[in-house]
Amino acid sequence: MDITSAVVTGAASGIGRAIATRLRSSGTRVVLADIDAAALAGVAAELGADAVQTDVSDAGAMAALAAAAPGVQLVCLNAGIVGRDLGAPWEVGAEDWAGVFAVNVGGVANGLRAFVPPMLATGRPGHILITASLAGLVTFPTGGAYAASKHAVVALAEQAALALADTPIGVTVLCPALVRTGMSAEGEDPEIVADEALAAVRAGTFAVLPDIWSDAITRRAGRLVSGAQPEPPAPA
Ligand SMILES: NC(=O)c1ccc[n+]([C@@H]2O[C@H](COP(=O)([O-])OP(=O)(O)OC[C@H]3O[C@@H](n4cnc5c(N)ncnc54)[C@H](O)[C@@H]3O)[C@@H](O)[C@H]2O)c1
Repeated sequence: MDITSAVVTGAASGIGRAIATRLRSSGTRVVLADIDAAALAGVAAELGADAVQTDVSDAGAMAALAAAAPGVQLVCLNAGIVGRDLGAPWEVGAEDWAGVFAVNVGGVANGLRAFVPPMLATGRPGHILITASLAGLVTFPTGGAYAASKHAVVALAEQAALALADTPIGVTVLCPALVRTGMSAEGEDPEIVADEALAAVRAGTFAVLPDIWSDAITRRAGRLVSGAQPEPPAPA
């Protein structure tokens, strides 16, 4: 798919910023969205892109973002937060459960609700790129609300892909392990992750995940089917 226009949420930093940078360098018109107005303005000026300050957990704000990008072809629902509490489920405060789910899951649901109906109405090819995480494909004993929220994001992406199967709208879910961004001091270079994500969009691939984790994902499915207790996942 030749990508001529795009919206990217969480575009002021990290993976979203890298996706927007790559898109701009290949001539795509991009509308950047982020809750951080100052950082957003800086990236918009640097990339020569439009910007709309947006809280993805606010359905009205996501509807306004969609209205600011009529006819958009690629929507990257990428904004996410890790939360404060990263322990076992019972160690996570009620506020953290609500806040992390509102942004990570609510942000994607609000994005699908705001963008998919007008994209379908155009009848033209389009694509939704959803940033989940490796944490949505395997389960660690800790990880707080973040881990459960990313499993929900993977499920939302699968739901959307199945429901859109007979339409010109494709779906890709990005599931990286650690990436060096505002969220993590270590990990993969965000530009490499952005390139892999955009290559998958162009190829129509559903899931993008690190090869060294594929066996752990398969093992998890096998243990679920056999009834075995879960085991902590490890890379190959
Ligand atoms: N960094 C990692 O190790 C890693 C690994 C797997 C998945 N991810 C996912 O990648 C996505 C991007 O994160 P990142 O690593 O680039 O982190 P980041 O913190 O560098 O960037 C996230 C951006 O989202 C914005 N944001 C936060 N809440 C928002 C809201 N309510 N509305 C709009 N924007 C909001 C932030 O202001 C920030 O600019 C997230 O969904 C994250 O869960 C990150």
